[in-house]
Amino acid sequence: MSPFRITRTLPEDAMAAALRTDVRHGLTGDPKTLPPKWFYDAHGSDLFERITELPEYYPTRAEREILAHRADEIAATLPARTLIELGSGSSEKTRYLLDALTSLDTYVPVDVSDSALRQAGQALTAERPGLTVHALIADFTAGLTLPAAPGPRLVAFLGGTIGNLLPAERAAFLTAVRALLSPGDGLLLGTDLVKDEDVLVRAYDDAAGVTAAFNKNVLAVVDRELGADFDPDAFDHVALWNAAEEWVEMRLRSRADQTVKVPALDLAVHFAAGEDLRTEVSAKFREEGVAAELAGAGLDLARWWTDEAGRFALSLSVVR
Ligand code: SAH
Ligand code: AVI
Repeated sequence: MSPFRITRTLPEDAMAAALRTDVRHGLTGDPKTLPPKWFYDAHGSDLFERITELPEYYPTRAEREILAHRADEIAATLPARTLIELGSGSSEKTRYLLDALTSLDTYVPVDVSDSALRQAGQALTAERPGLTVHALIADFTAGLTLPAAPGPRLVAFLGGTIGNLLPAERAAFLTAVRALLSPGDGLLLGTDLVKDEDVLVRAYDDAAGVTAAFNKNVLAVVDRELGADFDPDAFDHVALWNAAEEWVEMRLRSRADQTVKVPALDLAVHFAAGEDLRTEVSAKFREEGVAAELAGAGLDLARWWTDEAGRFALSLSVVR
């Protein structure tokens, strides 16, 4: 069997400290917010996989369509020997790249979710003898150190997860990714595109309530990790289109006037009835905006592909 290694570059106590900092900062701010990376404990990662199969949630299918048609072209443009995937989750769509990259030596999936990395890494290792899989439990916004692996290297950031970062975070993130790359390396970036508001809002407020459960899961994480007494039933799932920012927002709206205790932080947080806690932004892009953000980080947009319906884009930047 081929090698599968999993390295925790984010020690568990550092992750616990980051959660405490984020929860204190987010719940004492105005408006109240929590960063979306905390959705993804084992249950949250499973819920996300269920979201990808919902009829309303088109991004996964649209990106898979592009990869199915373009993986060979991507591999011809950048015949990577190392594929690094940020926020890799189940690595399900990645298989198109793994098949097309015929000189691939090492796959480095990077995620905060150790459950997702373990499941994906074990499955891939069993499926692909000869491929070295070196998984990293890491926060891709917190300074990445990559294992030594042969070039050229392709960094893939799929799913539209870049849209879950705020604009300033995206700029810092892209600059950090650029700093990891050498001439001949590249970045493959998935971005969901601006479209009809109804289609967007339905994708984040599905009829079966899976996205609502995913959204409320962040409360269960804070309850479990910090001893808080959030009652998920005391909040409503809200998805709305922010036209000025061109992003979808997920919020949790307090059903009543209530105070939530977070003992690990010695914190009591008051919610007025109808007050929102913003749990995620999911920015939607246009080609010129993606090109400008890449250029701001010193990356040239070399190729741009969309699905047939023009819902989602993959772009490739190659460092010269
Ligand atoms: N790329 C996959 C999964 C997308 S879900 C797809 O396209 O289907 C987003 C993934 O990013 C999750 O697996 C989540 O755990 C991970 N993630 C979110 N924020 C992260 C961060 N700051 N650092 C590392 N991984 C993160
Ligand atoms: C991971 N990320 C790109 C998803 C998105 O569409 O923003 C997370 C998600 N949130 C609700 N549904 C899916």
